[in-house]
Amino acid sequence: MMWSLHLTCILLFLTGIVDSYKILLISPLPGKSHVILSDGIAKYLANAGHEVTYITAMPENLSYKGGNIKKIDVSKNLEILKVAGDSISIKAIMDKKVNYQDQRFMFSMFLENARMTFSNEAVQDLFKDKSQHFDVIVAEWMFTEVYAGLAAVYDCPLIWFSTVEPHWMVLRLIDEGTNPALAVDVLSRRISTPLSFVQRLESLYDRMYTYYFYHTFVYDKEEEIYSKYMVPHINSQKYTPLDVLRYNASLMLGNSHVSLGEASTLPQSYKPIGGYHIEKNVKPLPDNIKKIMDDANNGVIYFSMGSNIKSRDFPEELKQKLLKFLGGLKQTVIWKFEEELPNRPSNVHIVSWAPQQSILAHPNCVLFISHGGLLSITEAIHFGVPLVGIPVFADQFTNVERAVNKGFAKKVLITLNLAEDLKEQVVNILNDPKYTAKVKELSFIYHDRPVTPGAELVFWVEHVVKTRGAPHLRSPALHVPFYQKLYLDLLALILILALLAVFLIVKIFSAFFGQSSITINNKKLN
Ligand SMILES: *[C@@H]1O[C@H](CO)[C@@H](O)[C@H](O)[C@H]1NC(C)=O
Repeated sequence: MMWSLHLTCILLFLTGIVDSYKILLISPLPGKSHVILSDGIAKYLANAGHEVTYITAMPENLSYKGGNIKKIDVSKNLEILKVAGDSISIKAIMDKKVNYQDQRFMFSMFLENARMTFSNEAVQDLFKDKSQHFDVIVAEWMFTEVYAGLAAVYDCPLIWFSTVEPHWMVLRLIDEGTNPALAVDVLSRRISTPLSFVQRLESLYDRMYTYYFYHTFVYDKEEEIYSKYMVPHINSQKYTPLDVLRYNASLMLGNSHVSLGEASTLPQSYKPIGGYHIEKNVKPLPDNIKKIMDDANNGVIYFSMGSNIKSRDFPEELKQKLLKFLGGLKQTVIWKFEEELPNRPSNVHIVSWAPQQSILAHPNCVLFISHGGLLSITEAIHFGVPLVGIPVFADQFTNVERAVNKGFAKKVLITLNLAEDLKEQVVNILNDPKYTAKVKELSFIYHDRPVTPGAELVFWVEHVVKTRGAPHLRSPALHVPFYQKLYLDLLALILILALLAVFLIVKIFSAFFGQSSITINNKKLN
């Protein structure tokens, strides 16, 4: 076994079929859904035979057996969640104590996270090791572009990874920002287009405000982090300002797909690979859950609010009302909740941990009640299960809105009236086959691709290395200034010509007819 493996490796090496690249993957966010996505990238690249150095805030999350992934532990970053307080709690959000739509909050949090990452000793040690080189860097974009500095540290191409549907803030890095009349801001709670007149104004205002804020507040802080933690490790001949580097990525891998989002215009250097994090063969269900699901003659409703929202934050009264409503259903309910509840009805099963993909994959699963995180929505489409979304923060509002627009979901807001509202929408979906039909249709579109998203991920990363940064994919829009795109220079020229014309006409007019009026004036003056 070992021998044949060695032999294959030697053969592959000799024939040059597999080039093993050294890849630096940086995704230092201490959030479970981000970690699931970046773990997925690490695994695909390692399985393709590449050597991955992976800067991660949750190193224990990745279960990968094999020597191809070297983890750099920045779990100290978890402290920023403490700084943000216990703010990701249902209670704080219901009491409107935090606002995840607030840009200042988002930007400061992610900048702080970047600062903690680069000041981390493990990362500084990596930079100091002069024998270390990389063929390409894959960096997650999350409201800061300071990671682009790594391209100068290692003098190699950079690939952005965006975790959400493509939006103007990331597209401007590889092409140009989308037209605000067509697409709202990523933190907006609205998604539906076409926009009305007032909505278009709002969209434009949001855009201008974020742009201004980013350029005045974020850029300075990024420059500071770059100069302090990265520039000392850059060979002085290779020094490039951060403001050049941020626009010099070779590619952007996007966790999106047209079945999940909109058919928007995308540059050649944007590659949608949404759904790659779902493994081809789902893991078998644990025996207890398998039995519950197999025996559920009226179908299973799976209820999970994701990994950030904790059950202890639910008000007691709400827990009781939810139990009462779920108990009244004829379906079996699997509720991911961290605590066992007293007076639990017999059709409701509470599990503190749930293998979400395996549950959704079970043919008896008829409905998913979810917080509307992008991964959950992707999995709902992957496995073809309709959804009731209870958005709580960040992009969940737009995700759920999108799912509702696509016709396979209903939205419920998180209030003390949750149980009543939920009941109405759950009944709506269970009694009308159109939601299930729609999600199955989208699921077909989602799966009907020339290659799997995981294969595409590996292909494009290798393509960038093989073509030394894929300059052929760069959008020409990157080098055309704003005023030229809008022909503001032409407008200025027309204005100048028009003014000149007016001026000349007045001159000519006064030359022919002006004498008398001047005389009159003179008379008056005299
Ligand atoms: C931009 O990226 C390309 C490809 O990775 C690289 O060759 C080039 O040196 C970079 N430019 C700057 C100014 O860093």
